[in-house]
Amino acid sequence: MEISFTDFVVVGGGVAGLRAAIELADAGQVTVLTKDALRDGATEYAQGGVAVALADGDTPAAHRDDTLEAGAGCCNAGAVDVLVNEGPERVRELIDWGIHFDLDLGGNLDFTREGAHHHNRVLHACGDATGREVERTLVAKVRTLERARRLPHHYSLGLVVEEGRCLGVWLVDQTNGRERLLLARAVVLATGGVGWLYRHTSNPAVATGDGLAMAHRAGATLRDLEFVQFHPTALHLDGVPAFLISEAVRGEGARLLNQEGERFMVGRHPDGDLAPRDVVARAIYDEMARHDGRPVFLDCRHLGAELLPKRFPTIFEACRSYGIDMRTQPIPVAPAAHFMMGGVVTDLDGATDLPGLYACGEVACTGVHGANRLASNSLLEGLVFGQRAARAILATEVTFPTLRHAGFYEPPAPILEIDYVARQEQAREIMWEYAGIHRTAEGLTAADAALRALELPYQRYPADRLVAETGNAIMVSRLICQAALARTASLGSHYRADAVADQS
Ligand code: SIN
Repeated sequence: MEISFTDFVVVGGGVAGLRAAIELADAGQVTVLTKDALRDGATEYAQGGVAVALADGDTPAAHRDDTLEAGAGCCNAGAVDVLVNEGPERVRELIDWGIHFDLDLGGNLDFTREGAHHHNRVLHACGDATGREVERTLVAKVRTLERARRLPHHYSLGLVVEEGRCLGVWLVDQTNGRERLLLARAVVLATGGVGWLYRHTSNPAVATGDGLAMAHRAGATLRDLEFVQFHPTALHLDGVPAFLISEAVRGEGARLLNQEGERFMVGRHPDGDLAPRDVVARAIYDEMARHDGRPVFLDCRHLGAELLPKRFPTIFEACRSYGIDMRTQPIPVAPAAHFMMGGVVTDLDGATDLPGLYACGEVACTGVHGANRLASNSLLEGLVFGQRAARAILATEVTFPTLRHAGFYEPPAPILEIDYVARQEQAREIMWEYAGIHRTAEGLTAADAALRALELPYQRYPADRLVAETGNAIMVSRLICQAALARTASLGSHYRADAVADQS
């Protein structure tokens, strides 16, 4: 097995990974691994924006209060303080690096509102392509750094662990199938989330839970995996993949209507259409259950024919490509798996309980989101905790690792004749049906058993991305079911239909 060295390895090229890499490149060579092309992660898909207390009259304390409230009493208050207090500096830095946030007519930053915010504090870019602009800015910054190198199409099969320390990453270069051990002074996991484990999702197909699976196999602690956020409004058309319809559309005044044309959120929650996501997603689920699974509608017609293509160009074009003109037709929408609030447990500096392994962004669990993430807090989380993880690594004296048992990784396991895609699809159906918006002990138990039957018979993976992704997805799906079974009461995004208490 070929072995190579870098000072720091970052797995994942989204907002958290790139922000960490920028900081680390000050002190040594950073290698950023991405399993797809360089810009195919979930960051690119983020529409709504970056929540940050920079608007006149807003304060970090008000941002903190909204974050804590959305988190259903389950947030780590210290992590929330870090997020809201360090957020403004991280965003100003992005502006210095050339990000183009949208401006109002007076040339000032334009802040919009999303669900469960009590202030207009969400910055957006290119209308509804904020993630793409954040990613563009960070990639451009990374390109200026001599010691940062990005390796696309390099899939991480596992973490290299010896004597209780993470020494690096075992990877395959998908362009030639060659395996390699990349050893480093520190490994930063920034692999994003798990949306692809569900049949309906706003996430790209790369969101297969690889980071969670790798960390779990390596012995790091995971937590709160039952807290999966379902975005209330994804485009819902037969035969069409779910496509996110940003909460910012409701922030601008769009209304949810049921099949009878009624505003079903009015009276259901004081914030109506802008209630916390878990509340809106459940209300839509109930409406759909009453109507044979038919979707609800997002009505934007009153917002003005001029505003919609300008303010939401990505959504407008996507709808139009499927024959829906949002200026004149309500958009059929339904919930979709969106964000993992739990993850690899870290302290406020990204350190996991496996020495040498750090995590930041969606794969990590600092507790900042509690049981339900406040809209547009995730890009901010990536910026703040990516930078903190890197800073903590740089403050720690670590020598280059020496590997004693490289032979463990030889020879490659053979690829078994299994229809891996079909297994993934079966697992995704099971997760949607039984570990989605409504959960019961009976359903979760059945789901876990069905997923167990789908598990792959490998001690370790062969050097093949599809095989490993399938194995990881099934493993993490089972962990989610088990966590959801263990939490018998409803809390935030985790709704146990067989439990007595529910806050909605
Ligand atoms: C959205 O634009 O609605 C998604 C933003 C987020 O999940 O924070």
